Amino acid sequence: MTIVGSADQVRPDPDAALSVRGLTRDYHRPRTSLFHASPPVHALRNVSFDVAKGERFGVVGESGSGKSTLLRILAGLDHATSGTVTVNGTEITNLPEKRLGFLREQLQVIFQDPMSSLDPHMRIGDIIAEPLVATAHLGSRDRVAELLEAVGLDANAVNRYPHQFSGGQRQRISIARALAPKPRIILADEPVSALDVSVRAQVLNLLADIVENLSLTLFFISHDLSVVRHVCERVAVMHEGKIVEMGTVDDVYDSPRDPYTRGLIASIPTLDRALSGAVASGLGTDAL
Ligand SMILES: Nc1ncnc2c1ncn2[C@@H]1O[C@H](COP(=O)(O)OP(=O)(O)OP(=O)(O)O)[C@@H](O)[C@H]1O
Ligand SMILES: [Mg+2]
Repeated sequence: MTIVGSADQVRPDPDAALSVRGLTRDYHRPRTSLFHASPPVHALRNVSFDVAKGERFGVVGESGSGKSTLLRILAGLDHATSGTVTVNGTEITNLPEKRLGFLREQLQVIFQDPMSSLDPHMRIGDIIAEPLVATAHLGSRDRVAELLEAVGLDANAVNRYPHQFSGGQRQRISIARALAPKPRIILADEPVSALDVSVRAQVLNLLADIVENLSLTLFFISHDLSVVRHVCERVAVMHEGKIVEMGTVDDVYDSPRDPYTRGLIASIPTLDRALSGAVASGLGTDAL
């Protein structure tokens, strides 16, 4: 596994699940003055790293540090200003539209808020089958039942709608949908932070178990370092669009080198603390 520092001269690693080189993303804000252009937002600045196949890689950083921008580019949902992204040996940065099917079969995304990422007018069975149909995996009925069981939901959930489920159950549905086309890589953007604190650990453990059992690669964003430590082997710390520190979760957590990382560890309320608070106040019951 390669840890890349300033790596824009280094070629992408063709054996890595994700290989990112010199990734930059500038956003242009609308003009607020007739005389001056608004300065661009440098959402990503020369970001380089590799994620090995089967590795669980976390990204932490405060709001606005560029985490979701990075994920969207990895998922082919946004374009880089410069730099490259290579997924399982294929560069996707300028992948033509007609080859996006390749990407859908390689990687899937789980977003923070399952209510807004699930179509409220579609039945659960159709929601989960949608990526199967999109990637031409027909005969999906058995697969949908199998997926529901894998995420701990009853098979008769297929005929119901998203609003008939709790937040935790909806995120289980999002996980089932992400797994449907049998991707090798899961990208998750704060997958439990919109959930009630009492169900966060259950959904997190479900995701971690599935990733481990299927030997998937996980790219996992959280602003909470303790959640990342629970789920991931390695972590990158982002600050103002740059990776300021990267290493094993134990190294970064126990002996952070960068002052920004030290501040982050000290200041952010952790899931451990939140959960012990929830248990102490009697909220530790199963609200799924
Ligand atoms: N479509 C866009 N247009 C303009 N600026 C954007 C756009 N998307 C993101 N940005 C800006 O880029 C920077 C990085 O945003 P990003 O959403 O990647 O941060 P984040 O680390 O995911 O934050 P959070 O923890 O709040 O989700 C921010 O300054 C944000 O305002
Ligand atoms: Mg974000």
